[in-house]
Amino acid sequence: MRRTSRVASKYWTLAAAAVLSVALAVPLSASTTAAEPTQLRDQGAAAEPVVDRGLGFLVSDYQTRHPAKYTADSWRPFAKALTTAAGVADDTSATTSQVAAAKTVLMTAAAELEAADEGTFQTITNNTFWNDTSGNPIYSQGGGVFKFGDTYYWYGVHYVGAESYRANPTQKYDNQVSFVSIPVYSSKDLVNWKFENRVATRSTVIQNGATLGQAGWVGRLGVSYNENTGKYVLAVQAYVGGGHGVLLLQGDSPTDTFDYGYFQTQITNSPTTGTGDQTVFTDDGKDYLIFSNREGRSRGFVAKFRESDSLRIEPGVEIRRGDGREGNAMFKLDGKYYHAASDLHGWNTSVNYVNESTSGNVQGSYSAEFVLPGTEMDYSHVTQTGFFVTVNGTKQNTVIYAGDRWADFAWNGIGYNQWVPITRTGARPQFHSVSQWQFNVTTGEWRVGPANNYILNPDIQADRVIVSSVRGWRNLGGSVTNVNGGVNGSRFALQVSNSGGVEQRIPSVPAGTYTMALHARGSAGQVVITGANGTQRTLSIPSSSGWAKRELTGIELPSGAATVAVRASGSGGVVVDQLSLVKTSDGGEPPAGERYEAETAPAVCQGTIDSNQAGFSGSGFCNGTNAVGAYAQFTVTPTATGTATLGVRFANGTTSARPANLIVNGATVATVSFESTGAWTTWSTKTVTVPLNTGGNTIRLEPTTAAGLPNVDYLDHIAGRSA
Ligand code: GCU
Ligand code: CA
Repeated sequence: MRRTSRVASKYWTLAAAAVLSVALAVPLSASTTAAEPTQLRDQGAAAEPVVDRGLGFLVSDYQTRHPAKYTADSWRPFAKALTTAAGVADDTSATTSQVAAAKTVLMTAAAELEAADEGTFQTITNNTFWNDTSGNPIYSQGGGVFKFGDTYYWYGVHYVGAESYRANPTQKYDNQVSFVSIPVYSSKDLVNWKFENRVATRSTVIQNGATLGQAGWVGRLGVSYNENTGKYVLAVQAYVGGGHGVLLLQGDSPTDTFDYGYFQTQITNSPTTGTGDQTVFTDDGKDYLIFSNREGRSRGFVAKFRESDSLRIEPGVEIRRGDGREGNAMFKLDGKYYHAASDLHGWNTSVNYVNESTSGNVQGSYSAEFVLPGTEMDYSHVTQTGFFVTVNGTKQNTVIYAGDRWADFAWNGIGYNQWVPITRTGARPQFHSVSQWQFNVTTGEWRVGPANNYILNPDIQADRVIVSSVRGWRNLGGSVTNVNGGVNGSRFALQVSNSGGVEQRIPSVPAGTYTMALHARGSAGQVVITGANGTQRTLSIPSSSGWAKRELTGIELPSGAATVAVRASGSGGVVVDQLSLVKTSDGGEPPAGERYEAETAPAVCQGTIDSNQAGFSGSGFCNGTNAVGAYAQFTVTPTATGTATLGVRFANGTTSARPANLIVNGATVATVSFESTGAWTTWSTKTVTVPLNTGGNTIRLEPTTAAGLPNVDYLDHIAGRSA
């Protein structure tokens, strides 16, 4: 039987009308009445009638369709037709024409099902400094992401220290919290961020003619859109003119330059002025300030913004009381609210302490505090709670935890923003501490990224102070401590001596082949990795006075837990740092198949990201400035060293070639001639072979003529080592 047909639509319309009246006449059995967009496969025995004259076959065939794959608008009539048809198929007294009409309506509705937007997966890589879509640093501490219309906006604070640390990440910058500006970035996918404006700067005038540049503190902000005034109100934790409070600035658009609205020092019910950290949480179009009291920080509050104009914070409703907490933020997952906060103070890395709502009211009652599962082993991916982004996808709900890595401004590992997914696992939300992941904002789905490091606290940065039991690593005897002086100028390393050891049990790795690597110095030692099936591989560490990289490839691991143990061979100390366990696609080869879009950070485009020439992939392509040297650059992160084949997709609508130097990690390795493709909308792929290191490799295409580059769409990692 054919499922679709090209019969004249007039016939279908008449038949559809016929079955609608049949539908009214046929009593439906209880098992076939559900017309809601839930999966219809399990709705009982309707598909196996005694006499169905071919309709039952059709019904059971269509019952395998899943609502998530189609738009809700097209699913509704289909689900209804399917329910009706199941009833007719079940009804032994249905006439031949009723059966025929039911078939017709069902086939029509099935043909009219529209596929839902499946979205695309974008890669989020932590432990790196993030750039905007123009290749400039994203400066965004203590902020928030808000969706206005169908665009996400990210606001945060640019502090001086963020520039310093980025320029030289081998020291801390304790005193560099002076305020530069509040930038705003926009994105459709929560991964690629376009710089829009500085909504406030040091010269923004606040009350009494003072400026923000004179403020003693500016931080922890969020935005409320007020429907009555049409204004976007930015609520900032501030210390100005001798007072602690919430500074309210407002603008006409999300990216406007914001002006002074009000400075509120006291929120009713809080025992102190100001806030001990705050974020803005939006739920069902209503905005709330989530905060703790400034001194002591022992109480958590949820307060509404004043409905008329959002320029006042209404009395706080206390939702928790106990130990002092800061970095207060709220997320909602599967109908429950979660208040999350960190230990005190100074952007310290911390587990997340969570209180779960016990009613459907964000200002209602909450459970006692518990530690958010998944934040224990590496102090929330070496961060303090920043804010959350709640994404209700077409297939699943995922909350993004946006952590601030900024303690001591900073020197706690590379990168300021560490974002990881939170999903519900069993009764509680689960924090997934991944170093790289891929997120689909449309469906809400996420997956572990190909370069993810499965070892937690791999750089020994979580503790921030010298300890004798290192976070995430269980002592196995001997002497264990973190020591100052990690590899590459990082702050700490792990030292194991007196024949001692530590181990980390990784709860779950997918089956595959892995490479384990670390840097080591000092006396001899070894690292033993044990898979869930008990098989072991050992990486020997010879003694070495300076840092040396050690690597073990081709480690076959079954899915399940894996344990990594670091041991000292004798009484001397072995010092290790930058441990990694990364899945390689096949037998230790780099994970071919990754695509690096030219518009996606950390890619850099010296020109503009355009989308006017059809046929590109992702959200745009790099239209390089027509000049010698105006380059496009990609960062390729394989998991093993070797020669790789890359494909550059480009279009050249002129009649002359546009040659470019291919520069890998600063060294020119080839010249690539990008010939004419005939039109700007005709895209072609050029294959190049390059040597790659593990970690980030910069692949730069630098044009050698005044015409500049062709338009560049993406870089594909086509294959691993060529031989
Ligand atoms: C045209 C074309 C651009 C291209 C440019 C160029 O303007 O629309 O996409 O980049 O030519 O010559 O570089
Ligand atoms: Ca161009």
